Amino acid sequence: MYEFKYKNNELWCEDVRLQDVASEYGTPLYVYNKQSVIDHCRHIENAFEGVDHLSCFAVKANANVEILKIIADEGIGSDVGSAGELYLSLKAGFPPSKITFSGVGKRADEIEYALDTDILSFNGESVEEIDLIQRIASTKQKIARILLRVNFDIEAGTHRYITTGRKHNKFGIDKSKAKEILLNAAKLSHIEVLGIHTHIGSQITDKETFISAAKSVVSMVDELRSVGIPVHHVNFGGGFGVQYQDFISHPQLPVENADSTEFTTVELIEAALPILKQTGCKILIQPGRSIIAHPGILITKVLYRKVTDEKIFIITDAGMNDLLRPSLYKSYHQIIPLNFESVQIEIVDVVGPLCETGDFFAIDRNLPFVKSDDYLAIMCAGAYGYVLSSNYNGRPRPAEMLVDGYETSLIRKREKIEML
Ligand SMILES: Cc1ncc(COP(=O)(O)O)c(C=O)c1O
Repeated sequence: MYEFKYKNNELWCEDVRLQDVASEYGTPLYVYNKQSVIDHCRHIENAFEGVDHLSCFAVKANANVEILKIIADEGIGSDVGSAGELYLSLKAGFPPSKITFSGVGKRADEIEYALDTDILSFNGESVEEIDLIQRIASTKQKIARILLRVNFDIEAGTHRYITTGRKHNKFGIDKSKAKEILLNAAKLSHIEVLGIHTHIGSQITDKETFISAAKSVVSMVDELRSVGIPVHHVNFGGGFGVQYQDFISHPQLPVENADSTEFTTVELIEAALPILKQTGCKILIQPGRSIIAHPGILITKVLYRKVTDEKIFIITDAGMNDLLRPSLYKSYHQIIPLNFESVQIEIVDVVGPLCETGDFFAIDRNLPFVKSDDYLAIMCAGAYGYVLSSNYNGRPRPAEMLVDGYETSLIRKREKIEML
């Protein structure tokens, strides 16, 4: 599952020494491991053995078409949030019958495109949107399959920007209104109601949260069936958290969180699954991070060590435009050297070169001593990494490459300043 490992104080990905990759492809550089992507897909699929289900990879987490191809080859579907993600999914080979469409603001042209390609279903987010889908489907003489996204007002216990299932969030339909809306939707001539959808947030690590969401889904299904609404599908969304701290251990690396309890995605899914099975429905999920966070890292080069009266700043050639998560969500990523030359640990801020105080990867972090031209790996950066990158501060986006055994391939070229 985890193919990034130290061998003789050097970080390798399978049979590839990452120092060589950094020199050859330059930095900042996203590196993904093919086997790890496959293993993460299979890990989730194994949890569903014998269960009528469909996992749809949330393309928003990583939209590189070569990564999508690996996932599509595993037989998993995709969940898209835009016409662009639908286009990429089709290009990567996901069959339309395994594609779902999420998002609160689907445009008419996006709905048309999805109907033309005959995707499996839309996750409906509002009455207005369902009406628009009905109108477009009727013009095209097609039937649109929908699941209603229900907002169960559940606290996900994660960062508020990635909490999606509270009443005050923009997502879904209040649980008290779901029955009435679905009764009306079921009467529409070009809408087929398949069931309900929920997605309560991202990076959720507490089993109890998923158990509570699953129980809410079961009682909603019972309530809907009691008034004759057919429910064949429940989509439980994504949000299954992953371990970011202490991802890689080494005798010379500081322990990041001695109190943390290890968990796996599958444990989170397994907590909810027996409850969801009570519905007798086909179970859909939309995992993003739990498939692609661990198989990707961002390699960056140390530009300068800047020592002030207050701090030691390790200034890297990657910045918030390359990996936004720490600035946006104060997210934690383990940062480790590609090579150990020193056993001296010091407390540093790892910061990017942009003109923003918020441009940082770590604040007051214990890190082995590093100097200019050393390389650092920012771990578990495969999800919500490159997809959130930008040209802010006139910076070309980084390159992406894939390791497969001892082979390496460039899967996205580094942008040049002429492309700005
Ligand atoms: C509707 C929906 N489904 C799935 C996901 C994927 O979430 P995660 O990457 O946490 O699994 C998201 C992300 O926020 C989402 O908005």
